[in-house]
Amino acid sequence: MGAHYTPAPLARFVADKAIAYLERSRSELLRVLDPACGDGQLLNAAIEALLEHGIKNWQAVGVEADAQALGEARNRLAHPGGVVHLIQGDFLRVASEFTPQQELWSEQDASAGLGSRFDLVIANPPYVRTQVLGAAEAQRIANRYDLSGRVDLYHAFIRAIGDVLRNGGILGIITSNRFMTTLAGKAIRSYLTTQLEVLDVIDLGDTKLFEAAVLPAVLIARRKNRVKGPKSYTVPFTRIYSHTRSVQEDETPARVSGGIIEALAFGDEGIVDAPEGTFAITRGHFAVTPGATDVWRLVSSQESEFLSRIREYSHQVIEDVAFVRVGIKTTADEVFIRKNWAALPREKCPESELLRPILSHEDARRWALPGRYVPAARVLYPHLVSGNGKRVINLADYPGTRRYLESFRSRLEARSYVAEAGRRWYEIWVPQDPAAWVSPKIVFPDISAEPKFYLVYEEYLVNGDCYWITLRPGTPEETLYLILGVANSDLMTRFHDAAFSNKLYSARRRYITQYVARYPLPHPDTPAALRVSTLTRELVEQTKQQSALDSIRQLEHDINVAVYEAFGIEWDGGV
Ligand SMILES: C[S@@+](CC[C@H](N)C(=O)[O-])C[C@H]1O[C@@H](n2cnc3c(N)ncnc32)[C@H](O)[C@@H]1O
Repeated sequence: MGAHYTPAPLARFVADKAIAYLERSRSELLRVLDPACGDGQLLNAAIEALLEHGIKNWQAVGVEADAQALGEARNRLAHPGGVVHLIQGDFLRVASEFTPQQELWSEQDASAGLGSRFDLVIANPPYVRTQVLGAAEAQRIANRYDLSGRVDLYHAFIRAIGDVLRNGGILGIITSNRFMTTLAGKAIRSYLTTQLEVLDVIDLGDTKLFEAAVLPAVLIARRKNRVKGPKSYTVPFTRIYSHTRSVQEDETPARVSGGIIEALAFGDEGIVDAPEGTFAITRGHFAVTPGATDVWRLVSSQESEFLSRIREYSHQVIEDVAFVRVGIKTTADEVFIRKNWAALPREKCPESELLRPILSHEDARRWALPGRYVPAARVLYPHLVSGNGKRVINLADYPGTRRYLESFRSRLEARSYVAEAGRRWYEIWVPQDPAAWVSPKIVFPDISAEPKFYLVYEEYLVNGDCYWITLRPGTPEETLYLILGVANSDLMTRFHDAAFSNKLYSARRRYITQYVARYPLPHPDTPAALRVSTLTRELVEQTKQQSALDSIRQLEHDINVAVYEAFGIEWDGGV
């Protein structure tokens, strides 16, 4: 059910933020709703904040699917002086009594269930892929709210909350920060900027303020009173992420004794040392255009200056000179990938020419594999190069493989999408192009705390938890070294964070095609770029030979300095 309750200080922070935007006289009745109220923490914080703001005439409504949680909410919310109405049920169904507000100016009050529309909605809706509710329910939700792609329940909640907010009403929501940047979040971004006016965004990053599998963000928005023209406007944002960079002399961290919520509430900025750890708080503005589906990129003015400098010095991006692809996806790794093929009974052992060494995140490192390194795992790769393409093997030609795969036939046939795509039951789902494996490539893992790009000359395959870069035909091989030096540099880590802001927990980052393909490259003929390639070639050699660490560190440092120079940015000691 996606039940991760909001801790009290965060609940109060969101309530205060939202209430600050209310435009009501204190005597008017104020109606507040939490559409997935759990044990009532958030609704309670909202009521307390209303009382402190001198609002005495209020009604609170909580909806919750889970009866037990609702019982706890009932005890918590026994407030004197106001009306608390708790409803057990599915908010998406309860809200569907309200016609979607297509016309912003027509207030349409429903009489049953929730009563009239709300002045304030405060929510921490469930984060659950709608797919887990079953295909039919997922489809129903997607259709009703015009959603597509990897739809999450919180997308539907945002839409349904819009339907129950009165015009001018305020929404204060804690939710996953993913909708700001994902493809599936497109419809929500467009909705939030068309039907609502975004007032404030606080990306809580990897602060682990509560136990959820997502990185949370707080969003404050107002339901529009009237349709405004598609004029862009700027929204204040705050971002807080754990700070891993060594602290520079000129930035002594501010100590905050009351915790990070207090630091956020007091408007602190920069590096803060809080009881929860050391964090960097960035504040700035970002532009939104009503109806636009662009990603919401929270870039401070300092970062945007940095990005434009990089853009000015970049000659091309990686995808101009290379292909960036994900590794193979078998969708049955336990069948196709093993470290111990030799332990199988002889008659069931696949033919050795089909067993190919495969690199996965376990093999990932920086620069190069040590000489004579062989990945521990091998994949049973049932595809062969054929002309310009590939063909799947004929099992009759490989009796050992046939017997091995037959013993997993039901497991493999359960991948019904393989047959539906007109493919053989024993194919791997994404085999990539077997002819491309012979090219020299740069391999890197999908998730990692630091860049781990390394050069591979061997014909090793790459598993789906990693990506690989090969040069486009006609590109000089030297470019591979330039790409490697740039991709592993401190400067590119700064670029990655500023341009894509996609940190995960524990300061790990995602490295995927859509980001890495956009890494800028300097003009390859400039002296600094030539130095990057030469030094990287040297470093690859030394890594292969497992040279002394001092010598490797020195080369890494020299490459970092050269990359900064290649992009016209002064070396400042690095990340
Ligand atoms: C992330 S928790 C938040 C609870 C509470 N608002 C808080 O902040 O502490 C989400 C809650 O949504 C409830 N829930 C899940 N699906 C729901 C639905 N369709 N309608 C109403 N509540 C639902 C879960 O039981 C859970 O209590």
